[in-house]
Amino acid sequence: MNQKREIPVREKNIVLIGFMGVGKTTVGQLIAKKLYRDFIDVDHHIEKKYSMPVSQIFKEMGEPEFRKIERETVIDLCENFRCKIVSLGGGAFQQEEIRKVCLSNCIVLFLDLTWNAWKERLDLIVDGRPVLHNRTLEEVQELFEKRQPAYSKHNSKISTDNQNPEEVADYIVSALKLGWDLYQPHTDM
Ligand code: S3P
Repeated sequence: MNQKREIPVREKNIVLIGFMGVGKTTVGQLIAKKLYRDFIDVDHHIEKKYSMPVSQIFKEMGEPEFRKIERETVIDLCENFRCKIVSLGGGAFQQEEIRKVCLSNCIVLFLDLTWNAWKERLDLIVDGRPVLHNRTLEEVQELFEKRQPAYSKHNSKISTDNQNPEEVADYIVSALKLGWDLYQPHTDM
């Protein structure tokens, strides 16, 4: 029987999810540094592989092809890598297969930000985010809300309003360490 072995909790990848511009990459890099782990940003990983920015992949290959590449990349990272800090693109968790593979192999952390706090960042992040182009503020808000049910499938939610990335990362690192000790205590006594 091909029974999969459970991944020890300390070895599970830590996956960050959340809407565009909430700080997944910045926070992920900080967590990786604090835990001495490798950081993988799925979009950068794809950009390196295809030697072009995500916006160009959208333009030349179309969104459905990007979503396929994104799905294959995340499945590979979740099934074949351990101990990584992984940041997903904001749309990735809309795909059921991605949700399933992440939730069964990794620890999934949702970086939450309220709409009111998020909308202040729009001008800073709109370039390079093809999904935001040609949408009114109301339409972006609709997308923001439409995506919340998928983000609600996580192991833990971190509210990031009024917190800087360093504070968010510190909080996550202490919570992770506590969880690791509780669920897989050091037994060298
Ligand atoms: C997308 C988010 C982007 C990137 C792509 C599509 C989305 O990632 O994957 O532009 O659909 O929300 P970030 O969340 O890192 O901006």
